[in-house]
Amino acid sequence: MIPQAFIQDLIERVDIVELIDGYVALKKRGINFWACCPFHNEKTPSFSVSANKNLYHCFGCGAHGNSVSFLMEHQGMSFVEAIHHLASHVGIEVPSEKNKTNNNNSDTKKNVQNALLRASKYYQSELKKSPRAINFLKSRGLTGAVAKKFNLGFAPQKSQALREIFQDYHSEALQQAGLVIRTEDNKIYDRFRDRVIFPIHNANGIIVGFGGRVIGDGMPKYLNSPDTIIFSKGNELYGLHHSKDAIRKIGKIIVVEGYMDVVALAQFDINCAVATLGTSISEYQIRKLLQRTDHVIFAFDGDDAGRKAADRAMEVMLPVIKDGKFIFFSFFPSGDDPDSFIRKRNQKLFWEHIAEAIPLSDFLMSHYVKDNDLSSDEAKAKYVRDIKELILRVKAPNFSLFLKKRLATVVDLELQDLGFTISKREIKSELKKDRIRPIGVPRVVNSLLDLLCNDLRLGSEIEISESVVYDGVIPKVISKDEWKLFNELVQLSGGVKTKIDLMEKYRGTGLEELVYSSLSRGFGIDFLTDKEKVLEFKGAWKQLLRQFKQAKINFLLEKADLSDADKRDLIDLQRKKL
Ligand code: GTP
Ligand code: MN
Repeated sequence: MIPQAFIQDLIERVDIVELIDGYVALKKRGINFWACCPFHNEKTPSFSVSANKNLYHCFGCGAHGNSVSFLMEHQGMSFVEAIHHLASHVGIEVPSEKNKTNNNNSDTKKNVQNALLRASKYYQSELKKSPRAINFLKSRGLTGAVAKKFNLGFAPQKSQALREIFQDYHSEALQQAGLVIRTEDNKIYDRFRDRVIFPIHNANGIIVGFGGRVIGDGMPKYLNSPDTIIFSKGNELYGLHHSKDAIRKIGKIIVVEGYMDVVALAQFDINCAVATLGTSISEYQIRKLLQRTDHVIFAFDGDDAGRKAADRAMEVMLPVIKDGKFIFFSFFPSGDDPDSFIRKRNQKLFWEHIAEAIPLSDFLMSHYVKDNDLSSDEAKAKYVRDIKELILRVKAPNFSLFLKKRLATVVDLELQDLGFTISKREIKSELKKDRIRPIGVPRVVNSLLDLLCNDLRLGSEIEISESVVYDGVIPKVISKDEWKLFNELVQLSGGVKTKIDLMEKYRGTGLEELVYSSLSRGFGIDFLTDKEKVLEFKGAWKQLLRQFKQAKINFLLEKADLSDADKRDLIDLQRKKL
């Protein structure tokens, strides 16, 4: 038996978009990814994959499930095979049943999370008591509000400060959380002492670790939590949780190098920045970024270390980049990082600097040109040899094609002479594969039902007055059942608490299918803020009202002999603004 907790954890870790994309080319549309369904024959995509929900669902044939069921159904693997496949995919080992500690995985995770949360609260309260730490943050230009937003704290200079809040100071949980260190002679003391604390939240806002900075100069400058059962430095991005809304709003992510850069930018109201945790960026992190936005700007220090970091980031991202993504490299003047740059100047100049960032294509193509001026055939030959190796790592079909063409132009050769071994037919089919397929116009009634099923409170936002129904004339855009369900759900608002209760209520009724498909189509609605949901819902409702009005007008116009009352209705309706 494979422990249930392990399976859950594994499914959480697997990036379902990336997994399925390996078998079926997915396209991002809205917040989900789409393709023609691999489980039935179709010409327009109705197979959707939601990164947020970690699920796939086909609106055509109803196939749905998670990464495990995908492998079972698409690849014909057994359950155990699928688990082993996924585990090796993310690079972890499947625990055997003998390994008892793993059975308590989810308990341990909870304990670790709780410990970190409590510690973070304690560090925050300690910050208020430390003028030295406060002055340090002030000297870095930070206000209390921004410090609070990022839950910055202070770990006092005591070897067992956390004893104050943890009666079980010697318990396993604190060690598993990385909060304390056990010495060889079995003494236990706090990991973070006399440091400013930067809590690291995962994308869901759960604290998974800390970064601790010395006040002033000292070595090491930063001390991070060790990797734990819930924390892996190569997977998390500092600031992602706080920047989610801004990223969605401006559609961009700025990746900086330091915690301080993220916080300093937020101080200047630039809230779309994230940082790696002192390690060079991983493929996993880049995937995570590209799932949230099409536009990523990497901001590096202008020194040698910054250049090296940029080169590494470029190499990691080449296999991951997709057509439709825009990646830029921005370098700050030598000696400056985003934090010092923006403090010396201002927000406007920062954006101006970012606007001059170099596109990935230019950065890549100039990679070997520094010590290679391309004036001799020898230089060109070397350049082609080296740059080809980079271009070949790009999997995005169109992007790769343009890079190849550009290389041909730069060295003044024909594309086919460069030995990339691509035939015209391949180019054509590659381009075709990636072309956006037309997708049916979304139905208003779907939006209404999807929103409503996923959040019944929305029902109270509107009123279905009798005049709306216009004597029972229902427009063609909505079926009788859909209209019935819609009315019932609006009446229900708040009466049914959870989605499961809702499904239960309709189980076995004629409306069950509708409820189920609305619920599953509503993937990602949880991602909207309440305000956005209300806006969307009211907007869709208004559209439907217009359809009702038109239906009634059409109905009257088609009537053979209009009564006087009909005529008045018709005039009223035509005047009525919606
Ligand atoms: P300031 O120096 O206060 O501006 O902080 P910074 O966040 O800008 O740090 P810096 O640019 O020097 O380093 C970038 C990132 O690398 C930091 O945010 C840390 O994540 C990491 N880092 C820097 N120094 C150390 C260190 O001594 N140890 C570890 N583990 N990580 C470090
Ligand atoms: Mn810095």
